[in-house]
Amino acid sequence: MTIHENYFLKPLHTFHIGVYAKYFASFNAVDDLTEIIETHLNKTSQRLTLGGGSNILFTKDFDGLVLKNNFSGIEQVNEDDKYVYLKVGAGENWHRFVMYCVDNGLGGVENLSLIPGNTGASPMQNIGAYGVEIKDVFHQLEAFNIAEKSVIKFDENDCEFSYRQSVFKTKLQAQYVILSVTFRLNKNPGYNTSYGAIEQELQNMGIETPSIKAVSDAVINIRTKKLPDPNLIGNAGSFFKNPEITEIEFKKLKDQFPDIVGYKVFGNNIKLAAGWLIEQCGWKGYRKGDAGCYDKQALVLVNYANAGGAEIYNLSEDIKQSVKQKFNVDLEREVNII
Ligand code: FAD
Ligand code: EPU
Repeated sequence: MTIHENYFLKPLHTFHIGVYAKYFASFNAVDDLTEIIETHLNKTSQRLTLGGGSNILFTKDFDGLVLKNNFSGIEQVNEDDKYVYLKVGAGENWHRFVMYCVDNGLGGVENLSLIPGNTGASPMQNIGAYGVEIKDVFHQLEAFNIAEKSVIKFDENDCEFSYRQSVFKTKLQAQYVILSVTFRLNKNPGYNTSYGAIEQELQNMGIETPSIKAVSDAVINIRTKKLPDPNLIGNAGSFFKNPEITEIEFKKLKDQFPDIVGYKVFGNNIKLAAGWLIEQCGWKGYRKGDAGCYDKQALVLVNYANAGGAEIYNLSEDIKQSVKQKFNVDLEREVNII
């Protein structure tokens, strides 16, 4: 186990900002993690667990210890009439896990194809796309309590999942390192094709009867058309959450802006498409230096080459203010700002 000092983080996160971590260590066993934490107990209080770095914006160097989780592997731990239970190492690439399920005819995560990052962050963020969230297939996870140096199990209720949120992002923030996640995959899946452009894409592909593989391919096709490949253009996916407002507030906005895009969610609230709000404020395709707002999806902020994290952050602040001014709607950042 090696603990590096002044470690360059640019290759380890998808915004590709040139920042350094004061200390950096990777681990793939609980003993290593315990040793790293003990060695650093008096050196730093700041710690950050890093997965694939696809939902992080570094605005400055990190003056603490970055822990890179390399637990890998996919293991079947249980099976009943309906489900197969797979335990997945936190350092396992998310899309590789989805492809494993697709190849083995296990349903539930095909709509979440091609989301970058590692499995350990998936419950942290309650990742979601095309009408499915991680909570729909989640069974249990194991996490390391940094203060106690012990491994604790969390079930679905313990995780307090909501839209792009969990207990690990709120009251237990930075207190646990997620080690593995167990998912419940369906042996006889139904398909969720009603969201967005999936049905249209299946038609374009000439598919009449969907399969897990066909839905996954359709999602991959749609995503590839509108989201920037982080290997080519730095980004962290949607920069803001889609904001939720009441039905009354929505009616008022609709009178003023008849084309406004909103969807009914639980409790009769309306979720607005933040991408639409941002586009209407004129930001889509905007670029200042190397920081910009992606020209095919206004909700995605990008680093064309050498933007600093603060430049991206400042752009997000300008966008937030103009959306507030035009629509009186508050945008909340989805990306973790460090
Ligand atoms: P990181 O960015 O490394 O970390 C994210 C947060 O989780 C940080 O706070 C980190 O400290 C914490 N964390 C990471 N691993 C652990 C761990 N093992 N234990 C405890 N805390 C941990 N997200 C969606 O939900 N839906 C999408 O459709 C989607 N599309 C995207 C498209 C693109 C092009 C990109 C770049 C991103 C997209 N994202 C999407 C965001 C991102 O891929 C997800 O949030 C992903 O789950 C982040 O995983 P990661 O391993 O990269 O996490
Ligand atoms: N829209 C515009 N202009 C834009 C972008 C979007 O008008 O520039 C409008 C369109 O009307 C479109 C609607 O917004 O129909 C929704 O757009 P899209 O289907 O691209 O989805 P989104 O709401 O922008 C959300 C998630 C994505 C997820 C997709 C698909 C959030 C914050 N984002 O984006 O997740 O992949 O739906 O389910 O909820 C992420 O979290 O990083 C992410 C990419």
